[in-house]
Amino acid sequence: MHGGRIYEYSKRTGMSTEDILDFSANINPLGPPQSAMAAIVAALNGIRHYPDTRHAAAKEVVCARFEIPDSRAVFCGNGASEVIDLTLRRVQPKRVYVFEPAFSEYEAAAHRVGARVVHIPLEIFASQRHLSLRDALAAAAPQRNIPGNAPAPKAGDVVVVNNPHNPTGRCFMRAEVLELAEELCARGVVVLADESFLDFRADGGELTVIPWVFQMRTLVVVRSATKMYAIPGLRFGFGVAHPDLVARIEEHRDFWSVNHLAQAAATAGYQDEAFVQQTHQWIARETAYVQRTWGAHPRLQLEPPGANYFLVKLDSGIDVESVVSGLEHQGLFVRRCDDFRGLGSHHLRIAIRRHADNERLWLSFSDFLNRPL
Ligand SMILES: Cc1ncc(COP(=O)(O)O)c(C=O)c1O
Repeated sequence: MHGGRIYEYSKRTGMSTEDILDFSANINPLGPPQSAMAAIVAALNGIRHYPDTRHAAAKEVVCARFEIPDSRAVFCGNGASEVIDLTLRRVQPKRVYVFEPAFSEYEAAAHRVGARVVHIPLEIFASQRHLSLRDALAAAAPQRNIPGNAPAPKAGDVVVVNNPHNPTGRCFMRAEVLELAEELCARGVVVLADESFLDFRADGGELTVIPWVFQMRTLVVVRSATKMYAIPGLRFGFGVAHPDLVARIEEHRDFWSVNHLAQAAATAGYQDEAFVQQTHQWIARETAYVQRTWGAHPRLQLEPPGANYFLVKLDSGIDVESVVSGLEHQGLFVRRCDDFRGLGSHHLRIAIRRHADNERLWLSFSDFLNRPL
């Protein structure tokens, strides 16, 4: 199950999609940027041709923006999801290790290639955290075979690490991700580092592990333009890996999957530095607002937002069902988390939107909280 099912919400409630404020999908509310919209309009005439199967313009811009010295290290996909899918289809792992809770597509993609999913529990709230990613993996799947435990990942298996992490919104330091990747890549394990939300962080350049793909030959970094540039109706993502691995991943793929308009939108978006600045300023202001409101309420436990959304746990006395349906009656849709492994009915994941929307949600939500039990 995913958030962002706006057509479904509309059908269920009878509200028009315009009257729905969707906090369930983590899409940049400032977008799409004018630059991307103009590029889409300008590209419309081109839809009478097949798209560029080399994705040349998009790759060139991606290489410049992310300081990737060799465009052969980049491959594009119809969203980050296709990048993940292409990688797993090529690697054909026996096992895919996923830190849970997690974005559901990792498991879905693993099942599509017949791999077994090994769930690595992640401590949910940073304040309670005492295991690094490497230690969490070692605890759940130790090197020494212990009956009842999953085996440690072997060459050809895949370990997925998502940073910033969905749905907790936690951000891991680069050193922690590298510590995990270094050890695994040295053993021939494929590390899929999903950085789909990293563009939302002003310090993204210091956190990405893209520069390491040239030395860690089984590291694949996944990025998405879908969320940052608000183009979920078009979708664009790309992967970065060692050129030898990229050549293998792309060997049998469908090169037409990345449509012409998506390529045009991403190419423009990735060159739009003013939009990136604007997004970082907005996120800094609004995360501070979330901390002052959701973070200060005694009946809520907030994971400090590391990207454009946050995870919150409501205390057990709160009737989540009636709060969520009350919000929906007002056109406010949040993401329930019962279907995430490791989370339950009292967790909500909430996208950060423009200030007026964030305020509207908080006022409605806190109004429900303050009603007598
Ligand atoms: C962590 C994560 N990675 C990848 C994706 C997929 O991105 P795209 O829409 O570009 O396929 C999502 C979408 O929700 C996500 O949450």
